[in-house]
Amino acid sequence: SDVYEFTGAHQAGITTPAQDRVHFAAFDIVTDSREELVELLRDWTDAARRMTRGEPAGELGTTSGPYDAPPDDTGEAEDLSASGLTLTFGFGPSLFTDAGGEDRFGIAHRKPDLLVDLPHFPADALEDARCGGDIAVQACADDPQVAVHAIRNLARIGFGKASVRWSQLGYGRTSSTSTQQVTPRNLFGFKDGTSNIKSEETQAVEDQVWVQPEDATSTDEHDSAWLTGGSYLVARRIRMTIETWDRSSLREQETIVGRTKHTGAPLSGGDEFTEPDFALTGRGDEPLIDPASHVALAHPDANGGARMLRRGYNYTDGSDGLGRLDAGLFFIAYVRNPATQYIPVQNTLARDDLMSEYLRHTGSGLWAVPAGVPTGSTTGGTDGV
Ligand code: HEM
Repeated sequence: SDVYEFTGAHQAGITTPAQDRVHFAAFDIVTDSREELVELLRDWTDAARRMTRGEPAGELGTTSGPYDAPPDDTGEAEDLSASGLTLTFGFGPSLFTDAGGEDRFGIAHRKPDLLVDLPHFPADALEDARCGGDIAVQACADDPQVAVHAIRNLARIGFGKASVRWSQLGYGRTSSTSTQQVTPRNLFGFKDGTSNIKSEETQAVEDQVWVQPEDATSTDEHDSAWLTGGSYLVARRIRMTIETWDRSSLREQETIVGRTKHTGAPLSGGDEFTEPDFALTGRGDEPLIDPASHVALAHPDANGGARMLRRGYNYTDGSDGLGRLDAGLFFIAYVRNPATQYIPVQNTLARDDLMSEYLRHTGSGLWAVPAGVPTGSTTGGTDGV
């Protein structure tokens, strides 16, 4: 079956085997009313539950409603299957306190300490119109029309309460989240996701992905216990300077990544899934894996054991008017703690990674992703708020 249950202990779309396509949307809440926000989350939960089953967004579907009203579903997914659709919701720092420090919805005391805007990283070239957002929705599916349909209908349902701040389409998943999947390739042509956290690594998933009860503060003034069983979602739109990369030698490309292009094996030898040996030297006592390669710097050994569950996608948004592809990687990662598992790693990579010469980070955001909607719950999604 190509249906993933919307309800469960954790939200779907994280350890779910990575689907082929994404439509990622960041919404701003445009109402100041707490009741309207709660109503929106309830309506979205309901629509998400339906659409992930392959049903229309609303009960009356595309054509069974009143002739003189807009249909309950926009229709373009009518003849398509669920296509493995998952909808994953996250709350941004600005939902809890807006730019002026205002607590619009009376939920500032529920903001987790770790849910703060990501710091500025070296060489960031962020565009404001691709950053942040009060609520993020990651729609993943094996059919792009199904993913786009889902976001479009959530936007339609949210009219007057939420508006799309920015959104990103992606294809050709750049990670595997299950040992059952083959490792796909990113637009540099390298296998991506080889040493990603896989759902079968149940201990690593607990330790590195899900927020644990002991991570919460739980007092009257400050209560973040609602995030237990959830995760933090980091998104980065990373443009690749494709044309420059394509003129670099195979030797340089493999040195930058620290793995071979064909099999994805570490340059220290073995096959794709052999652990890299950073101490192994070749002729002239040079390490076989360059210490400034992406793999050397991103490896848990260089980061106090920190890992992340990567779930990104390739993107191509046409060309930039100068004949260069506006293409790259829409990086998505889920972590239990962004302060130890993402921020220091990104700082190191931005500063020292040989790959960074070919990258430009143009979009960014951090969201707290609550645990799943309990099976059988009718309110859903609003418990945290
Ligand atoms: C590994 C590519 C950005 C974190 C890898 C690998 C490739 C790759 C080819 C080796 C295969 C694998 O284990 O998946 C890229 C490209 C990027 C990018 C093309 C940008 C366009 C990032 C960013 C981060 C990151 C922004 C985090 C801040 C990691 C981690 C690993 C990895 C943690 C696994 C290291 C290990 O355990 O061996 N990446 N990456 N990558 N990357 Fe990236």
